[in-house]
Amino acid sequence: MDTSPPQTWSQRFETALHPAIAQFNASIGFDIQLIEYDLTGSEAHAKMLVKTGIISPEEGQQIVHGLEAIRQEYRQGTFNPGIEAEDIHFAVERRLTELIGAVGKKLHTARSRNDQVGTDIRLYLRAQIEALQAQLQQYQRALLAIAEEHVETLIPGYTHLQRAQPLSLAHHLLAYVNMAQRDWERLQDVQKRVNISPLGCGALAGTTFPIDRQYAAELLGFERVYGNSLDGVSDRDFAIEFACAASLIMVHLSRLSEEMILWASEEFSFVTLNDSCSTGSSIMPQKKNPDVPELVRGKTGRVFGHLQGLLVMMKGLPLAYNKDLQEDKEALFDTVQTVRGCLEAMAILLAEGVTFRVPRLRQAVNEDYANATDVADYLATKGIPFREAYNLVGQVVKTSLGSGKLLRELTLEEWQAIHPAFEADIYDAITPQQVVSARNSYGGTGFDQVRQALQRAQQALGDSE
Ligand code: ARG
Repeated sequence: MDTSPPQTWSQRFETALHPAIAQFNASIGFDIQLIEYDLTGSEAHAKMLVKTGIISPEEGQQIVHGLEAIRQEYRQGTFNPGIEAEDIHFAVERRLTELIGAVGKKLHTARSRNDQVGTDIRLYLRAQIEALQAQLQQYQRALLAIAEEHVETLIPGYTHLQRAQPLSLAHHLLAYVNMAQRDWERLQDVQKRVNISPLGCGALAGTTFPIDRQYAAELLGFERVYGNSLDGVSDRDFAIEFACAASLIMVHLSRLSEEMILWASEEFSFVTLNDSCSTGSSIMPQKKNPDVPELVRGKTGRVFGHLQGLLVMMKGLPLAYNKDLQEDKEALFDTVQTVRGCLEAMAILLAEGVTFRVPRLRQAVNEDYANATDVADYLATKGIPFREAYNLVGQVVKTSLGSGKLLRELTLEEWQAIHPAFEADIYDAITPQQVVSARNSYGGTGFDQVRQALQRAQQALGDSE
């Protein structure tokens, strides 16, 4: 029996690889992360070979046992293939042959590393998408917990980063809950195109063996199989779609981070960062830095970079497999690790790292002209055309600013001098509380609407659990 390790490639090669080229070529340094998926994919392949009579049941059993032994070795930390293995696929096959002898060399019948690596990466991504979806929900729950406490807490709302109209704080936070809901749905959609099996596409053209692709796909939980072998081994659309969905998650996390950073500044002072989630300065003892949101904002760029990298990697590739595709892995691994780290950190920050300063928020919404629209609306409900009312209120703001008065500080005489339609009820109409609760249109910041929106968000979260 020949028990020598399998030749990585055929006898046509006379000299060994230059050591620097071997290093350059190898992916084992990072694709070791795929090992569990590689083993699972190989087990399904071996079972399929048995089912179709390509190998015997005894051979199949030996192979599966050998693969499980490698899994144990890996989990115990004793399987550490080096550069000589080139990649995870060769590393496993080599170890399998060491463990079970020549029968290990039968595993690669009717398969290529090209369909194998495509299978591994899809199994990996499928699992990571599920984990990311669960993390998105954790983050949503953290936002909702704050929102529930603060339906009637007001916060200035901005456009152009200029005070615009006051908002329910819960409404503001629910905007991020809704973004995360779309992120969850986007991942759910990407998953449909991740979960397609390329196994059995062979190197590029299929195989001469009577394989059963459907069976192997079922064993691996794939929903479908690729209908074209060339497409199956060279498609990375799903990786790009995933990187795009990941980029949008980062856009949303980064926007929230930016707000947190502003809110934590002396200038805004809308939140305090708790000690468990902020850091100090090595030189300025008074400082407390918002490192978590800053890092999230900072890491966003590299996730965008991976999306760009994958797009460019694909754009000039002739069919079918090209070694360029080995570059997909580090991009995906880093994307997954970065987004998962950011989601975890933001969920913790929201759950225990940030406290909204309610008195300061109250003071903020009471001391501005963010109720000016409501004065115009007030006149409009009394029959004055809105544009005319808008111009009148512009004058009011101008004179109030000149005299250093807030709108609520104008006397009734002053109001009536502007327009006789003003009556004593103007004062109630322009309190921040009234201004917010009056915006009761669907999806608006009125308290009733916000309570309903909270319920919808909770419902959506429950539905997707
Ligand atoms: N390490 C390779 C990759 O990551 C595996 C596939 C190699 N296939 C080949 N024909 N060289 O893409």
